[in-house]
Amino acid sequence: MRKKKALIFGITGQDGSYLTEFLLSKNYIVHGVIRRSSSFNTGRINHIYKDPHAKGRKMILHYGDITDAISISSLIKKIQPDEIYNLAAQSHVAVSFEVPEYTANADALGTLRILEAIRFNKLEKKTKFYQAGTSEMFGKVIEIPQNEKTPFYPQSPYGVAKVYAHWITVNYREAYNIFACNGILFNHESYRRGGTFVTKKIVSGLCKIKLGLQEKLFLGNLYAKRDWGDARDFVKAMWKMLQQKKPSDYVISTGKQYTVKNFVNLVLAELNIKYSWKGKNLNEKCFANNKSIIELDKAYHRPLEVHSLLGNSNKAKRELKWKPEKNIKKLVRHMVSEEMNSLVNDKS
Ligand code: NAP
Ligand code: GDD
Repeated sequence: MRKKKALIFGITGQDGSYLTEFLLSKNYIVHGVIRRSSSFNTGRINHIYKDPHAKGRKMILHYGDITDAISISSLIKKIQPDEIYNLAAQSHVAVSFEVPEYTANADALGTLRILEAIRFNKLEKKTKFYQAGTSEMFGKVIEIPQNEKTPFYPQSPYGVAKVYAHWITVNYREAYNIFACNGILFNHESYRRGGTFVTKKIVSGLCKIKLGLQEKLFLGNLYAKRDWGDARDFVKAMWKMLQQKKPSDYVISTGKQYTVKNFVNLVLAELNIKYSWKGKNLNEKCFANNKSIIELDKAYHRPLEVHSLLGNSNKAKRELKWKPEKNIKKLVRHMVSEEMNSLVNDKS
């Protein structure tokens, strides 16, 4: 039987790496687009990489960029993929306030470029498309919990760009009959999460404090609430969307909500650190062994905050037969144990 071909934009990211592992386990040939970088940016997929001269490679990497229409179109023409996953994005909300134009170019127009390339290469009937949408589109939420029908009200250049990507995906589905789906994914984390996202920053900082490698961790808003899931569960939902009879849009979430401070407390407990919180507002601090180990810094506040996200993924449960397998405690355990292993190995 012919193996299916997938093309992943954003293969070097957290989700790209887990999705690659998952698709390889389903017997796909996975093509991935990487950006040229002055240092290696393939750390999350090195364990799968095989030299181009090796026989029977199942993951094939190509240089490209989501801001470069011709490179996208040429790749799609050459590969003729059965499925395209667009995970490429400037994905940091706070950074999107610093580089709003680039964020729009990559996150909004990048999606349009892929859809246009499918159309231009006359692959509307062959190639299915997945767009990595986000709960950040709900922003200043209009209802709780949020589902596929909840109106969007983004609060950052990132969220606004993703709303464009969402609607252009719907537009190409309706105008050109492309099998195109939006996944509206709530926050999902793992040991492979980028170091400046709050969960990874907390886990990495507290593990280093536990080992005496760092004294303090500085954070921003402790009271933002998120619906945090496990990236390894969430990538399966992306694939399931493209296996349905009809394309549609799906919220993917756990339906459980925690504050940033709750997440910190779970990590402290996992590390067996005895702690107490004292002070208010920007002076709130976390103490262990009579020393302050967590303090707040206004620099980590955003011009606009998304205060509370909570998803309702009943549609995914019903139609995709998807539900999260791992809860937040399992997620914290995975992140802490992998981080500790890596720090201890680095030391020795
Ligand atoms: P991530 O770790 O930041 O990965 C982003 C990927 O996009 C990386 O492979 C990155 O390449 C690539 N990329 C960035 N700009 C690019 C460009 N101009 N051209 C080509 N590739 C580019 O993000 P993630 O957490 O895996 O998330 C995957 C997608 O889901 C993103 O679109 C994100 O916005 C969306 N999303 C994430 C979450 C979440 O909680 N994780 C929730 C909802 C939606 P480099 O490695 O070279 O930087
Ligand atoms: N990054 C960061 N760093 N966030 C902090 C910090 C800090 O030091 N202190 C508090 N926070 C708060 C942020 O203000 C935010 O309310 C919350 O922690 C989560 O921040 P991030 O982990 O940066 O994630 P995000 O929710 O802004 O965005 C992530 O999830 C979206 C889905 O809802 C990203 O993965 C986006 O790409 C994704 O679309």
